[in-house]
Amino acid sequence: MIAILDFGSQYTKLIARRIRELGVYSEIFPWDTPIPKLLERKPSGIIFSGGPASVLQKDAPAPDPKILETGIPILAICYGMQIITKLLGGTVSSGKEREYGRTEMKILMESPLFKNLPQVSLVWMSHGDSVTTPPPGFLITAEGEKTKIAAMEDPQRKIYCLQFHPEVVHTDYGMKILDNFLTEICKVTKTWNMENFLKKIREEIDKKVGSERVLCALSGGVDSTVAATLVKEVIGDRLVAVFVNNGLLREGEAEEVKSFFEERNFNLIYVDASESFLNRLKGITDPEEKRKIIGHEFIRVFEEVASKQGKIKFLLQGTLYPDVIESGSGGKGAAKIKSHHNVGGLPTKLNFELLEPLKELFKDEVRKLGKLLGIPEQVIKRHPFPGPGLAVRIIGEITREKLNILRKADKIVQEEFRKSGWYDKVWQAFAVLLPTKSVGVMGDERSYGYTIVLRAVHSEDGMTADWAKLPYELLEKISNRITREVDEINRVVYDITSKPPATIEWE
Ligand code: XMP
Repeated sequence: MIAILDFGSQYTKLIARRIRELGVYSEIFPWDTPIPKLLERKPSGIIFSGGPASVLQKDAPAPDPKILETGIPILAICYGMQIITKLLGGTVSSGKEREYGRTEMKILMESPLFKNLPQVSLVWMSHGDSVTTPPPGFLITAEGEKTKIAAMEDPQRKIYCLQFHPEVVHTDYGMKILDNFLTEICKVTKTWNMENFLKKIREEIDKKVGSERVLCALSGGVDSTVAATLVKEVIGDRLVAVFVNNGLLREGEAEEVKSFFEERNFNLIYVDASESFLNRLKGITDPEEKRKIIGHEFIRVFEEVASKQGKIKFLLQGTLYPDVIESGSGGKGAAKIKSHHNVGGLPTKLNFELLEPLKELFKDEVRKLGKLLGIPEQVIKRHPFPGPGLAVRIIGEITREKLNILRKADKIVQEEFRKSGWYDKVWQAFAVLLPTKSVGVMGDERSYGYTIVLRAVHSEDGMTADWAKLPYELLEKISNRITREVDEINRVVYDITSKPPATIEWE
């Protein structure tokens, strides 16, 4: 495995994913992880990420210098390079201006890191400070246009430093450089793939669960579907799957999810709790209050079902690696933007032991695993759908009438995205119903109807997002169909805000 020390770079997760794409398991650790804890994991190499701080600051994050003496190969990127320079007695100077963007790098001498690279190539720089004198023992291996020391290394101590970011696609030979680090310097064998993971995780589930039973809540989303299918394969009918219809699902969704799991002979408990959810939401307009009510109601319904099942030891959750990193790194001082209600609140109340078989995986890896498990593409490539469902896409009070209007409009959006091939090009695409009415004309008549907002975004992980530059033809088709087929709608607008400053969902 490769350990990645996180100095707070926006690219840390990307580094971890790139290493895995190259066939080597990687994990992220906070920069101040004690060395023994790191060594316990027997890393074949350590990568220092970049970071937003300046090593010239007094309280700049600095790892225990002994980490540079372990003999384990180190690849240090950007801030990582600068902190090593500071720790080992070189100099770092503050630049007058930030260097940001693609720039030429010229290799000055042979290095295993640059094996099979052309002498000149484009790399991605993003830094303010620069190394001006390397620490004793270091050789300058590449120079940049502005940055004199684009790369340096101490082959004796096996420390390799890059001022630029090999993990981003804008660095032409970035993957090759990372691959060279893995194979030429760390000498690892590439064994990380989903086939091996599947073998390993099956054994682990079998060992952990033994002859006990496992309860899970299904949402129809990719993560819970993959997790449940995986566990079902190992323990069969001892997996009890609960699907709660909260009345806030898309058109046809409850039936689809139900038949998917029934066809696969799941021990499925289907609860239609629409009435109670909608009753509790009557008159509620505040987004946070909606979310809280839905979260509490879900727990109440789930508890009621669970209490009738006798003793069940485990609760299955589709937690992914990014959730683990995020909760692990604390998010100190991070503002609460929205409360996300998943089944996260359940275990403390219900005394389950958690089973989280996907917690080492990134989303793209979960999709690959799903494919191996024979889950159809249509399910694997499904867009994320929020736990509170359409409730956060109807601004203001939720009524059955509005749910019906939104379902009709949203169905058109889904159909047109699939038909045009845009479904797989975006992270999410959906309709939002606004509570305000506006004037229009229908034939010779004046109309007074609601507005639908179309939202479509590109994103890597939902944390940030760009609005999708959809073709006019697609926008036109969707707008025409919605205003023609949904009587209550006489206006369609397209949301052209990215995240930040907006969020993806409207509430
Ligand atoms: P926002 O609106 O916060 O959404 O930009 C980011 C991503 O998270 C999804 N989302 C949720 N997912 N429970 C979920 O499981 C929730 O309560 C929830 N709220 C938002 C959203 O669809 C987007 O993909």
